[in-house]
Amino acid sequence: MKKILITGGAGYIGSHTAVELWNAGMEPIILDDFSNSQVEVLDRLEEITGKRFVFYRGDCSDKTLLHEIANAHQIQGVIHFAAFKAVGESTQSPLIYYKNNVGSLVILLEFMQEKGIKDLVFSSSCTVYGQPDVLPVTEATPRKEAESPYGNTKKIGEDILVDFVKSKAGVRVVALRYFNPVGAHPSAKIGELPIGTPQNLVPFITQTAAGIREKLTVFGNDYDTPDGSCIRDYIHVVDLADAHVKALHFLTDQPLNFYDVFNVGTGRGNTVLEVIHAFEAVNNLTLPYEIGPRRAGDVVKTWADTKKINQVLGWFPAYDLDACMRDSWRWQQFLMKG
Ligand SMILES: NC(=O)c1ccc[n+]([C@@H]2O[C@H](COP(=O)([O-])OP(=O)(O)OC[C@H]3O[C@@H](n4cnc5c(N)ncnc54)[C@H](O)[C@@H]3O)[C@@H](O)[C@H]2O)c1
Repeated sequence: MKKILITGGAGYIGSHTAVELWNAGMEPIILDDFSNSQVEVLDRLEEITGKRFVFYRGDCSDKTLLHEIANAHQIQGVIHFAAFKAVGESTQSPLIYYKNNVGSLVILLEFMQEKGIKDLVFSSSCTVYGQPDVLPVTEATPRKEAESPYGNTKKIGEDILVDFVKSKAGVRVVALRYFNPVGAHPSAKIGELPIGTPQNLVPFITQTAAGIREKLTVFGNDYDTPDGSCIRDYIHVVDLADAHVKALHFLTDQPLNFYDVFNVGTGRGNTVLEVIHAFEAVNNLTLPYEIGPRRAGDVVKTWADTKKINQVLGWFPAYDLDACMRDSWRWQQFLMKG
């Protein structure tokens, strides 16, 4: 069975990817320092898959630990999720972000070269496009100056990968630019951990529905969109996880010194108000919300052109917005029980 090292494998997207890798006949080897996740995730993964995954607690910038893992397991590919992701915090503490997000990538690449591990899938983000001039956004759309140190770590990460591949380092790399991951595993055993006040719409919706937040604020309803609220491309986390499986399959057929980038989205944009109404309808709930002023720095509208990932990786999303809203709410209910 092919063994894949997943840095940040206990996190939101990493844990779902561990399940999909297993379902596809690959064995995830999880490395996580639990800086933004909980060790209980491993129990939940076992409940879902029936398998206790091998896991290492530690920092993925720890080269000694990486070698220890590779000496114990024949690692054939790496998915690098581990990173800090709070945009606001990154503006307060940029060095922590550069050190963790950029520093860990450099060390991981050195390690891969030392061990002759060829395949890497890297977590990038649609944040590299900023507010695109033309929609939908294709992979050829020029990247814009990053709006935050976090966003910049993703741009720099991509640049490092391009340079590394150009140097004939003997690796094959795919960077996936995620649009807006939402939802949770349909079992409701894993999902996104709520830490602090959510900055993203869907956790805010579910926490409001749960009574943790009094009401939801829609930041602006006078933008140039059908109902005036901002538009995003919401992608179910299980579909996103599956994109990593497809990317790994694809990489094994590529020549060495290969790099490519793919958007991962549904190809459809939904407004904030559409998302709220979908959540209400599918879960038979009413959400208290108000219209507030625009929020500084918000991208007004973005959604992916997904032709490339559809055609080249043969990846298509299976879950729609209603499923995203149903699974997000189930996960919130699970958290409340716990
Ligand atoms: N969730 C999103 O909206 C989104 C969008 C675009 C890109 N991404 C990227 O996807 C990746 C995964 O995001 P997520 O939402 O699953 O985040 P997450 O915080 O849930 O998962 C990241 C995991 O990495 C771990 N981690 C962080 N630094 C580490 C280190 N140095 N060593 C070992 N473990 C470490 C954390 O404990 C956590 O379990 C990140 O690179 C993120 O930037 C996320």
